[in-house]
Amino acid sequence: MDGNGRWAQKQGLPRISGHEVGVQRIQGVLETLGPKGVKFVTLYAFSTENWGRPQDEVDGIMDIFSEAVASQTQALHEKNVRIVHVGKTENLGTDLSKAVSGAQSLTANNTGITLNVAFDYGGRAEILEAVRRIIRDGVDPDSIDEDLFSRYLFTAHSPDPDLIIRTGGELRISNFLLWQSAYSEYYHTPTLWPDLDSEELLQVLDTFANRRRRYGGLNPEDESSDSQTSQE
Ligand code: FPP
Repeated sequence: MDGNGRWAQKQGLPRISGHEVGVQRIQGVLETLGPKGVKFVTLYAFSTENWGRPQDEVDGIMDIFSEAVASQTQALHEKNVRIVHVGKTENLGTDLSKAVSGAQSLTANNTGITLNVAFDYGGRAEILEAVRRIIRDGVDPDSIDEDLFSRYLFTAHSPDPDLIIRTGGELRISNFLLWQSAYSEYYHTPTLWPDLDSEELLQVLDTFANRRRRYGGLNPEDESSDSQTSQE
């Protein structure tokens, strides 16, 4: 959700207003992606590093998140959205943790889009937590493969992301889904998150549909042109 703060500053508003408007964009994004067959959407809402922001901004984000969980869960439930929190719960405070877990339970059996909300999430912290849990469970080291490791991540219920959209002109990974993004396609846009509209999202999906994914192998046409050359 990069660019909320700058969006607000551009309008002469306090940064926190950008976060409020950013939250209002979420439903529109889901409404665009759902009919296109997207089944999993992960929003990077608050990173483990975001705690280092000025206290009034952190407090404001916590209030907006609490308010969004309270006011939007029912509407998302009615749209068959499954809400899953991805990240640490320990630092959220009792009320917010309970509200998040209530939203998860209410929507657990929904079969539409899964909305992963990465809040107090960091890729490195997630990997370390998976390692701790694997050791605690006494897993045989020789049985640890990529599938097993993936099942110990916060995203155990989700496939790896096909496409990661980074708004706000940033060109970094910023600790997002480090393990899961091994073969994800990236799309970077200068558009600030509150301005990411349906038209641009549909363009992004078109661009993605034209990418050729090789997963470390060759494209079929490259293989056939090689074999033609060797036959020639
Ligand atoms: C990034 O923009 C956005 C955040 C750090 C916070 C976003 C989180 C919320 C709005 C809380 C609610 C979330 C949900 C999912 C209901 P930025 O501040 O880094 O913007 P900038 O790049 O313009 O500075």
